[in-house]
Amino acid sequence: MLSSQDTLISRRHDGLSGQFLVPGDKSISHRSLILGGLAIGTTRVTGLLEGDDVLATCNAMRALGVTITHEDDGSWLVHGVGTAGLMSPAVPLDLGNSGTGVRLLMGVVAGQPITATFSGDDSLSQRPMARVTDPLAAMGAQITSRDGGRLPVTIKGVADPLAAAHTSKVASAQIKSAVLLAGINARGTSTVTEPHASRDHTESMLRHFGATVVQDMADDGTHHVSLTGEAVLRAADIAVPRDPSSAAFPMVAALLTPASDITIPGIGMNPLRTGLITTLMEMGGDITLSNERTEGGEPVADLRVRHSQLHGIDVPAARAASMIDEYPILAIAATQADGVTRMTGVSELRVKETDRIAVVADGIAAAGGSVSYDEDSMTVTGGNIAGGVTIASQHDHRIAMSFLTLGMVSDAAITVTGCMTINTSFPDFATLMNGCGAALAAAGGDT
Ligand code: S3P
Repeated sequence: MLSSQDTLISRRHDGLSGQFLVPGDKSISHRSLILGGLAIGTTRVTGLLEGDDVLATCNAMRALGVTITHEDDGSWLVHGVGTAGLMSPAVPLDLGNSGTGVRLLMGVVAGQPITATFSGDDSLSQRPMARVTDPLAAMGAQITSRDGGRLPVTIKGVADPLAAAHTSKVASAQIKSAVLLAGINARGTSTVTEPHASRDHTESMLRHFGATVVQDMADDGTHHVSLTGEAVLRAADIAVPRDPSSAAFPMVAALLTPASDITIPGIGMNPLRTGLITTLMEMGGDITLSNERTEGGEPVADLRVRHSQLHGIDVPAARAASMIDEYPILAIAATQADGVTRMTGVSELRVKETDRIAVVADGIAAAGGSVSYDEDSMTVTGGNIAGGVTIASQHDHRIAMSFLTLGMVSDAAITVTGCMTINTSFPDFATLMNGCGAALAAAGGDT
Protein backbone atom coordinates (compact mmCIF):
# COMPACT_ATOMS: atom_id res chain seq x y z
CA MET A 1 0.00 0.00 0.00
CA LEU A 2 1.62 3.22 -1.13
CA SER A 3 -0.51 5.28 1.29
CA SER A 4 1.34 3.66 4.20
CA GLN A 5 4.80 4.46 2.77
CA ASP A 6 6.47 7.50 4.28
CA THR A 7 9.12 7.99 1.60
CA LEU A 8 8.09 8.04 -2.05
CA ILE A 9 10.15 8.47 -5.19
CA SER A 10 8.67 10.18 -8.23
CA ARG A 11 10.12 9.94 -11.72
CA ARG A 12 9.09 10.59 -15.32
CA HIS A 13 6.34 8.45 -16.88
CA ASP A 14 4.67 8.13 -20.28
CA GLY A 15 1.65 10.34 -19.55
CA LEU A 16 -1.52 10.07 -17.49
CA SER A 17 -4.76 8.71 -18.91
CA GLY A 18 -8.17 7.56 -17.74
CA GLN A 19 -10.47 8.72 -15.00
CA PHE A 20 -9.17 10.18 -11.74
CA LEU A 21 -11.68 10.02 -8.86
CA VAL A 22 -10.48 12.48 -6.21
CA PRO A 23 -12.01 12.26 -2.72
CA GLY A 24 -14.63 14.47 -1.11
CA ASP A 25 -14.12 18.14 -0.35
CA LYS A 26 -12.22 18.64 2.89
CA SER A 27 -13.85 21.95 3.83
CA ILE A 28 -17.37 20.66 3.26
CA SER A 29 -16.61 17.39 5.03
CA HIS A 30 -15.53 19.15 8.25
CA ARG A 31 -18.60 21.35 8.14
CA SER A 32 -20.97 18.42 7.51
CA LEU A 33 -19.91 16.78 10.76
CA ILE A 34 -19.93 20.01 12.76
CA LEU A 35 -23.22 21.45 11.50
CA GLY A 36 -24.85 18.03 11.48
CA GLY A 37 -23.88 17.71 15.14
CA LEU A 38 -25.46 21.10 15.95
CA ALA A 39 -28.71 20.30 14.15
CA ILE A 40 -31.85 18.70 15.47
CA GLY A 41 -32.25 15.27 13.87
CA THR A 42 -30.05 12.97 11.84
CA THR A 43 -27.97 14.17 8.90
CA ARG A 44 -26.78 11.66 6.31
CA VAL A 45 -23.50 12.61 4.66
CA THR A 46 -22.41 10.94 1.44
CA GLY A 47 -19.01 11.37 -0.20
CA LEU A 48 -17.33 12.41 3.06
CA LEU A 49 -13.54 12.72 2.84
CA GLU A 50 -12.21 10.00 5.12
CA GLY A 51 -8.83 11.66 5.58
CA ASP A 52 -7.03 12.18 8.87
CA ASP A 53 -8.06 15.84 9.22
CA VAL A 54 -11.76 15.11 8.87
CA LEU A 55 -11.53 12.02 11.08
CA ALA A 56 -9.93 14.22 13.76
CA THR A 57 -12.96 16.53 13.58
CA CYS A 58 -15.22 13.47 13.72
CA ASN A 59 -13.50 12.26 16.90
CA ALA A 60 -13.70 15.73 18.42
CA MET A 61 -17.44 15.96 17.72
CA ARG A 62 -17.88 12.54 19.31
CA ALA A 63 -15.93 13.72 22.38
CA LEU A 64 -18.32 16.69 22.52
CA GLY A 65 -21.25 14.29 22.78
CA VAL A 66 -22.41 13.74 19.19
CA THR A 67 -23.01 10.20 17.96
CA ILE A 68 -21.57 9.72 14.47
CA THR A 69 -21.75 6.36 12.70
CA HIS A 70 -20.22 5.01 9.49
CA GLU A 71 -22.84 2.99 7.60
CA ASP A 72 -22.34 -0.12 5.48
CA ASP A 73 -23.22 1.82 2.31
CA GLY A 74 -20.29 4.19 2.98
CA SER A 75 -22.41 7.11 4.16
CA TRP A 76 -22.05 8.73 7.58
CA LEU A 77 -24.91 9.49 9.98
CA VAL A 78 -24.58 12.44 12.34
CA HIS A 79 -27.11 12.36 15.16
CA GLY A 80 -27.34 16.05 16.02
CA VAL A 81 -27.84 17.28 19.57
CA GLY A 82 -29.06 20.79 18.70
CA THR A 83 -27.26 24.10 19.05
CA ALA A 84 -26.99 23.91 22.86
CA GLY A 85 -26.58 20.20 23.45
CA LEU A 86 -22.82 19.64 23.46
CA MET A 87 -20.96 18.58 26.60
CA SER A 88 -17.47 19.33 27.91
CA PRO A 89 -15.09 16.63 26.67
CA ALA A 90 -13.28 14.54 29.26
CA VAL A 91 -9.96 14.81 27.39
CA PRO A 92 -8.28 17.49 25.23
CA LEU A 93 -9.50 17.64 21.65
CA ASP A 94 -6.52 16.68 19.45
CA LEU A 95 -7.10 18.05 15.95
CA GLY A 96 -3.85 16.64 14.58
CA ASN A 97 -2.73 18.63 11.54
CA SER A 98 -6.05 20.36 10.91
CA GLY A 99 -6.28 24.15 11.07
CA THR A 100 -9.85 24.03 9.81
CA GLY A 101 -10.96 21.49 12.40
CA VAL A 102 -9.39 23.27 15.36
CA ARG A 103 -10.48 26.78 14.40
CA LEU A 104 -14.07 25.92 13.54
CA LEU A 105 -14.49 23.86 16.70
CA MET A 106 -13.11 26.72 18.80
CA GLY A 107 -16.02 28.78 17.49
CA VAL A 108 -18.48 26.03 18.34
CA VAL A 109 -17.21 25.64 21.92
CA ALA A 110 -17.09 29.43 22.47
CA GLY A 111 -20.84 29.64 21.90
CA GLN A 112 -21.89 26.94 24.38
CA PRO A 113 -21.61 26.68 28.20
CA ILE A 114 -18.84 24.07 28.00
CA THR A 115 -15.06 23.98 28.37
CA ALA A 116 -12.59 22.28 26.04
CA THR A 117 -8.83 22.22 25.52
CA PHE A 118 -7.53 22.03 21.95
CA SER A 119 -4.21 20.53 20.87
CA GLY A 120 -2.56 19.45 17.62
CA ASP A 121 0.60 18.13 15.98
CA ASP A 122 3.91 20.02 15.70
CA SER A 123 2.78 21.89 12.59
CA LEU A 124 -0.60 22.96 14.02
CA SER A 125 1.05 23.94 17.31
CA GLN A 126 3.13 26.57 15.45
CA ARG A 127 0.17 28.18 13.70
CA PRO A 128 -1.46 31.43 14.86
CA MET A 129 -4.68 31.03 16.83
CA ALA A 130 -5.13 34.58 18.20
CA ARG A 131 -6.76 35.56 14.90
CA VAL A 132 -9.62 33.27 16.01
CA THR A 133 -9.46 33.44 19.81
CA ASP A 134 -9.45 37.29 19.90
CA PRO A 135 -12.85 37.66 18.20
CA LEU A 136 -14.22 34.74 20.24
CA ALA A 137 -13.07 36.41 23.47
CA ALA A 138 -14.86 39.57 22.34
CA MET A 139 -18.04 37.46 22.15
CA GLY A 140 -17.63 36.49 25.81
CA ALA A 141 -15.59 33.26 25.81
CA GLN A 142 -12.76 32.91 28.35
CA ILE A 143 -9.62 31.75 26.59
CA THR A 144 -6.12 30.81 27.63
CA SER A 145 -3.37 29.84 25.23
CA ARG A 146 0.36 29.24 25.06
CA ASP A 147 2.58 32.29 24.49
CA GLY A 148 1.98 33.93 21.14
CA GLY A 149 -1.58 32.61 20.94
CA ARG A 150 -0.50 29.06 20.02
CA LEU A 151 -1.97 25.67 20.94
CA PRO A 152 -2.79 24.26 23.39
CA VAL A 153 -5.76 26.58 23.85
CA THR A 154 -8.49 26.20 26.45
CA ILE A 155 -11.89 27.79 25.82
CA LYS A 156 -14.65 28.23 28.38
CA GLY A 157 -17.66 29.06 26.29
CA VAL A 158 -20.84 30.92 27.21
CA ALA A 159 -24.51 30.05 26.79
CA ASP A 160 -25.38 33.56 25.67
CA PRO A 161 -22.49 34.86 23.52
CA LEU A 162 -22.51 38.48 22.45
CA ALA A 163 -23.28 38.98 18.78
CA ALA A 164 -20.05 39.61 16.85
CA ALA A 165 -19.13 42.64 14.78
CA HIS A 166 -15.81 41.41 13.48
CA THR A 167 -13.66 42.91 10.76
CA SER A 168 -10.87 40.53 9.77
CA LYS A 169 -7.55 41.81 8.39
CA VAL A 170 -7.20 38.69 6.24
CA ALA A 171 -9.61 36.85 3.99
CA SER A 172 -9.90 33.63 5.98
CA ALA A 173 -12.79 31.20 5.91
CA GLN A 174 -11.52 29.69 9.14
CA ILE A 175 -11.72 32.99 11.07
CA LYS A 176 -15.08 33.86 9.49
CA SER A 177 -16.49 30.41 10.21
CA ALA A 178 -15.35 30.36 13.84
CA VAL A 179 -17.12 33.66 14.50
CA LEU A 180 -20.29 32.59 12.69
CA LEU A 181 -20.41 29.26 14.53
CA ALA A 182 -20.04 31.07 17.88
CA GLY A 183 -22.78 33.47 16.75
CA ILE A 184 -25.39 30.72 16.29
CA ASN A 185 -26.46 31.05 19.93
CA ALA A 186 -26.00 34.83 20.20
CA ARG A 187 -28.92 37.15 20.71
CA GLY A 188 -28.89 39.48 17.72
CA THR A 189 -27.06 39.43 14.41
CA SER A 190 -23.37 38.59 14.12
CA THR A 191 -21.44 40.21 11.31
CA VAL A 192 -18.07 39.43 9.75
CA THR A 193 -16.31 41.59 7.19
CA GLU A 194 -13.32 40.32 5.23
CA PRO A 195 -11.11 42.16 2.71
CA HIS A 196 -11.92 39.66 -0.08
CA ALA A 197 -14.43 36.84 -0.11
CA SER A 198 -12.97 33.60 1.26
CA ARG A 199 -14.70 30.27 0.59
CA ASP A 200 -18.35 30.53 1.69
CA HIS A 201 -19.22 26.92 2.50
CA THR A 202 -20.13 27.80 6.10
CA GLU A 203 -22.57 30.43 4.91
CA SER A 204 -24.29 28.21 2.36
CA MET A 205 -24.34 25.18 4.65
CA LEU A 206 -25.79 27.19 7.56
CA ARG A 207 -28.57 28.23 5.17
CA HIS A 208 -28.97 24.58 4.12
CA PHE A 209 -29.61 23.76 7.80
CA GLY A 210 -32.19 26.55 8.13
CA ALA A 211 -30.26 29.54 9.51
CA THR A 212 -30.60 33.04 8.08
CA VAL A 213 -27.27 34.14 6.59
CA VAL A 214 -26.86 37.09 4.24
CA GLN A 215 -23.76 37.78 2.13
CA ASP A 216 -22.98 41.05 0.43
CA MET A 217 -20.04 41.85 -1.84
CA ALA A 218 -19.24 45.57 -1.77
CA ASP A 219 -17.89 47.49 -4.77
CA ASP A 220 -14.44 47.64 -3.15
CA GLY A 221 -14.31 43.84 -3.01
CA THR A 222 -14.97 43.51 0.74
CA HIS A 223 -17.28 40.70 1.74
CA HIS A 224 -19.89 41.21 4.47
CA VAL A 225 -21.65 38.28 6.10
CA SER A 226 -24.41 38.43 8.70
CA LEU A 227 -25.99 35.59 10.66
CA THR A 228 -29.23 35.97 12.59
CA GLY A 229 -28.55 34.59 16.06
CA GLU A 230 -30.53 32.13 18.19
CA ALA A 231 -30.68 30.05 15.05
CA VAL A 232 -32.34 26.65 15.04
CA LEU A 233 -30.54 24.16 12.79
CA ARG A 234 -32.48 21.23 11.36
CA ALA A 235 -30.83 18.09 9.99
CA ALA A 236 -30.37 18.18 6.21
CA ASP A 237 -28.61 15.53 4.13
CA ILE A 238 -25.36 16.46 2.42
CA ALA A 239 -23.72 15.13 -0.75
CA VAL A 240 -20.09 16.25 -0.55
CA PRO A 241 -18.65 17.21 -3.96
CA ARG A 242 -15.14 16.05 -4.89
CA ASP A 243 -12.41 18.41 -3.73
CA PRO A 244 -11.09 20.99 -6.23
CA SER A 245 -7.97 21.42 -4.07
CA SER A 246 -7.20 17.70 -4.41
CA ALA A 247 -8.09 17.76 -8.13
CA ALA A 248 -5.36 20.40 -8.51
CA PHE A 249 -2.64 17.71 -8.33
CA PRO A 250 -3.78 15.38 -11.13
CA MET A 251 -4.80 18.47 -13.10
CA VAL A 252 -1.29 19.94 -13.01
CA ALA A 253 0.34 16.53 -13.43
CA ALA A 254 -1.66 15.97 -16.63
CA LEU A 255 -0.93 19.45 -17.98
CA LEU A 256 2.81 18.98 -17.44
CA THR A 257 3.42 15.45 -18.68
CA PRO A 258 3.46 14.79 -22.45
CA ALA A 259 0.67 12.61 -23.90
CA SER A 260 -1.57 13.03 -20.84
CA ASP A 261 -5.36 13.15 -21.21
CA ILE A 262 -7.47 12.54 -18.09
CA THR A 263 -10.97 13.18 -16.82
CA ILE A 264 -11.63 14.26 -13.22
CA PRO A 265 -15.38 13.92 -12.60
CA GLY A 266 -17.67 15.60 -10.07
CA ILE A 267 -15.42 18.44 -8.92
CA GLY A 268 -16.84 21.23 -6.76
CA MET A 269 -16.90 24.45 -8.78
CA ASN A 270 -17.80 26.99 -6.12
CA PRO A 271 -16.44 30.21 -7.66
CA LEU A 272 -14.57 30.94 -4.42
CA ARG A 273 -12.55 27.73 -4.99
CA THR A 274 -11.78 27.80 -8.70
CA GLY A 275 -8.96 30.36 -8.90
CA LEU A 276 -6.43 27.70 -9.95
CA ILE A 277 -8.55 26.51 -12.88
CA THR A 278 -8.93 30.12 -14.08
CA THR A 279 -5.19 30.66 -13.69
CA LEU A 280 -4.14 27.47 -15.49
CA MET A 281 -6.51 28.28 -18.35
CA GLU A 282 -4.98 31.77 -18.62
CA MET A 283 -1.56 30.08 -18.78
CA GLY A 284 -2.74 28.10 -21.80
CA GLY A 285 -3.84 24.91 -20.03
CA ASP A 286 -6.21 22.69 -22.00
CA ILE A 287 -8.94 22.20 -19.37
CA THR A 288 -12.53 21.71 -20.43
CA LEU A 289 -15.61 21.59 -18.21
CA SER A 290 -18.63 19.46 -19.01
CA ASN A 291 -21.80 18.19 -17.39
CA GLU A 292 -22.04 21.32 -15.23
CA ARG A 293 -24.70 20.76 -12.59
CA THR A 294 -25.70 21.46 -9.00
CA GLU A 295 -25.23 18.68 -6.43
CA GLY A 296 -26.09 19.17 -2.76
CA GLY A 297 -26.39 22.91 -3.33
CA GLU A 298 -22.86 23.26 -4.78
CA PRO A 299 -21.97 23.72 -8.46
CA VAL A 300 -20.13 20.66 -9.80
CA ALA A 301 -18.53 19.79 -13.16
CA ASP A 302 -16.46 17.10 -14.87
CA LEU A 303 -12.99 18.21 -15.96
CA ARG A 304 -10.94 16.99 -18.90
CA VAL A 305 -7.27 17.93 -18.79
CA ARG A 306 -4.72 17.40 -21.56
CA HIS A 307 -0.99 18.01 -21.75
CA SER A 308 -0.31 21.64 -22.67
CA GLN A 309 2.62 23.99 -23.05
CA LEU A 310 1.94 26.66 -20.41
CA HIS A 311 3.15 30.26 -20.42
CA GLY A 312 3.84 32.47 -17.42
CA ILE A 313 1.37 35.12 -16.24
CA ASP A 314 0.86 37.58 -13.38
CA VAL A 315 -1.60 36.00 -10.94
CA PRO A 316 -3.62 38.86 -9.42
CA ALA A 317 -3.58 39.31 -5.64
CA ALA A 318 -7.38 39.57 -5.61
CA ARG A 319 -7.53 35.93 -6.73
CA ALA A 320 -5.50 34.62 -3.78
CA ALA A 321 -8.42 33.71 -1.51
CA SER A 322 -10.02 31.58 -4.24
CA MET A 323 -6.91 29.43 -4.66
CA ILE A 324 -5.08 29.83 -1.36
CA ASP A 325 -4.29 26.11 -1.03
CA GLU A 326 -3.23 25.80 -4.67
CA TYR A 327 -0.14 28.04 -4.79
CA PRO A 328 2.33 25.23 -4.06
CA ILE A 329 1.15 23.20 -7.05
CA LEU A 330 0.80 26.35 -9.18
CA ALA A 331 4.47 27.11 -8.46
CA ILE A 332 5.31 23.59 -9.68
CA ALA A 333 3.28 24.22 -12.87
CA ALA A 334 5.13 27.52 -13.34
CA THR A 335 8.50 25.74 -13.45
CA GLN A 336 7.36 24.19 -16.74
CA ALA A 337 5.82 27.35 -18.25
CA ASP A 338 7.53 29.53 -20.82
CA GLY A 339 8.60 32.76 -19.12
CA VAL A 340 7.80 34.20 -15.72
CA THR A 341 4.87 33.54 -13.38
CA ARG A 342 4.46 36.10 -10.61
CA MET A 343 2.16 35.43 -7.65
CA THR A 344 1.33 38.38 -5.38
CA GLY A 345 -0.80 38.88 -2.26
CA VAL A 346 0.18 35.47 -0.91
CA SER A 347 1.49 36.26 2.61
CA GLU A 348 -1.18 33.96 4.12
CA LEU A 349 0.81 31.05 2.69
CA ARG A 350 3.35 31.71 5.42
CA VAL A 351 0.94 30.53 8.15
CA LYS A 352 -0.34 27.32 6.54
CA GLU A 353 0.81 23.79 7.49
CA THR A 354 4.30 25.13 6.69
CA ASP A 355 5.58 28.51 5.54
CA ARG A 356 4.57 27.53 2.04
CA ILE A 357 6.34 30.42 0.28
CA ALA A 358 9.70 29.47 1.76
CA VAL A 359 9.25 25.69 1.62
CA VAL A 360 8.03 25.64 -2.00
CA ALA A 361 10.63 28.12 -3.21
CA ASP A 362 13.50 26.38 -1.41
CA GLY A 363 12.39 23.00 -2.77
CA ILE A 364 12.13 24.28 -6.34
CA ALA A 365 15.56 25.91 -6.04
CA ALA A 366 17.04 22.69 -4.62
CA ALA A 367 15.62 20.78 -7.60
CA GLY A 368 17.34 23.19 -10.00
CA GLY A 369 14.51 25.62 -10.74
CA SER A 370 14.57 29.40 -10.82
CA VAL A 371 12.52 31.11 -8.11
CA SER A 372 12.56 34.19 -5.91
CA TYR A 373 10.27 35.40 -3.16
CA ASP A 374 9.61 38.00 -0.51
CA GLU A 375 7.10 38.38 2.32
CA ASP A 376 4.04 38.56 0.07
CA SER A 377 5.02 37.26 -3.38
CA MET A 378 6.73 34.46 -5.26
CA THR A 379 8.15 34.53 -8.80
CA VAL A 380 9.00 31.42 -10.79
CA THR A 381 10.81 31.37 -14.13
CA GLY A 382 10.22 28.30 -16.26
CA GLY A 383 13.12 26.05 -17.20
CA ASN A 384 14.70 22.67 -16.85
CA ILE A 385 14.41 20.86 -13.50
CA ALA A 386 17.38 18.65 -12.74
CA GLY A 387 15.78 16.86 -9.77
CA GLY A 388 17.83 14.24 -7.98
CA VAL A 389 16.98 15.74 -4.59
CA THR A 390 15.14 14.74 -1.43
CA ILE A 391 12.40 17.08 -0.21
CA ALA A 392 10.92 16.84 3.31
CA SER A 393 7.17 17.38 3.54
CA GLN A 394 7.49 18.94 7.02
CA HIS A 395 3.97 17.68 7.94
CA ASP A 396 2.47 19.48 4.93
CA HIS A 397 0.39 17.29 2.62
CA ARG A 398 0.32 19.82 -0.20
CA ILE A 399 4.11 20.17 -0.13
CA ALA A 400 4.45 16.38 -0.41
CA MET A 401 2.02 16.11 -3.35
CA SER A 402 3.52 19.15 -5.09
CA PHE A 403 7.06 17.76 -5.13
CA LEU A 404 5.88 14.29 -6.15
CA THR A 405 4.31 16.09 -9.12
CA LEU A 406 7.56 17.93 -9.86
CA GLY A 407 9.37 14.58 -9.92
CA MET A 408 7.22 13.61 -12.91
CA VAL A 409 9.01 16.20 -15.07
CA SER A 410 12.49 16.41 -13.58
CA ASP A 411 15.55 14.87 -15.25
CA ALA A 412 16.38 12.72 -12.21
CA ALA A 413 13.80 11.38 -9.76
CA ILE A 414 12.67 13.41 -6.74
CA THR A 415 12.35 11.70 -3.36
CA VAL A 416 9.81 13.05 -0.86
CA THR A 417 9.97 12.12 2.83
CA GLY A 418 7.07 12.42 5.27
CA CYS A 419 4.48 11.35 2.70
CA MET A 420 2.16 9.87 5.34
CA THR A 421 0.92 13.43 5.82
CA ILE A 422 -0.84 13.11 2.45
CA ASN A 423 -3.43 11.01 4.30
CA THR A 424 -4.75 14.19 5.93
CA SER A 425 -6.49 15.23 2.71
CA PHE A 426 -5.97 12.67 -0.07
CA PRO A 427 -5.49 9.12 1.31
CA ASP A 428 -5.23 7.31 -2.05
CA PHE A 429 -3.18 9.93 -3.88
CA ALA A 430 -0.23 7.73 -4.87
CA THR A 431 -2.32 4.69 -5.79
CA LEU A 432 -4.70 6.77 -7.93
CA MET A 433 -1.78 8.53 -9.63
CA ASN A 434 -0.15 5.22 -10.51
CA GLY A 435 -3.53 3.88 -11.66
CA CYS A 436 -3.53 6.65 -14.28
CA GLY A 437 0.07 5.95 -15.33
CA ALA A 438 2.36 7.71 -12.87
CA ALA A 439 5.53 6.03 -11.57
CA LEU A 440 5.50 6.71 -7.86
CA ALA A 441 7.41 4.11 -5.86
CA ALA A 442 8.16 3.46 -2.22
CA ALA A 443 11.80 3.96 -1.25
CA GLY A 444 12.13 0.21 -0.68
CA GLY A 445 10.84 -0.58 -4.19
CA ASP A 446 7.14 -1.24 -3.40
CA THR A 447 4.87 0.38 -6.02
C1 S3P B 1 -10.28 26.29 4.84
C2 S3P B 1 -9.89 27.57 4.71
C3 S3P B 1 -8.56 27.98 4.22
C4 S3P B 1 -7.77 26.82 3.63
C5 S3P B 1 -7.95 25.56 4.41
C6 S3P B 1 -9.41 25.16 4.49
C7 S3P B 1 -11.64 26.02 5.34
O1 S3P B 1 -7.83 28.55 5.29
O2 S3P B 1 -6.41 27.14 3.56
O3 S3P B 1 -7.23 24.50 3.79
O4 S3P B 1 -12.15 24.90 5.17
O5 S3P B 1 -12.24 26.93 5.93
P1 S3P B 1 -7.99 30.10 5.66
O6 S3P B 1 -9.43 30.33 5.78
O7 S3P B 1 -7.32 30.33 6.97
O8 S3P B 1 -7.30 30.84 4.55
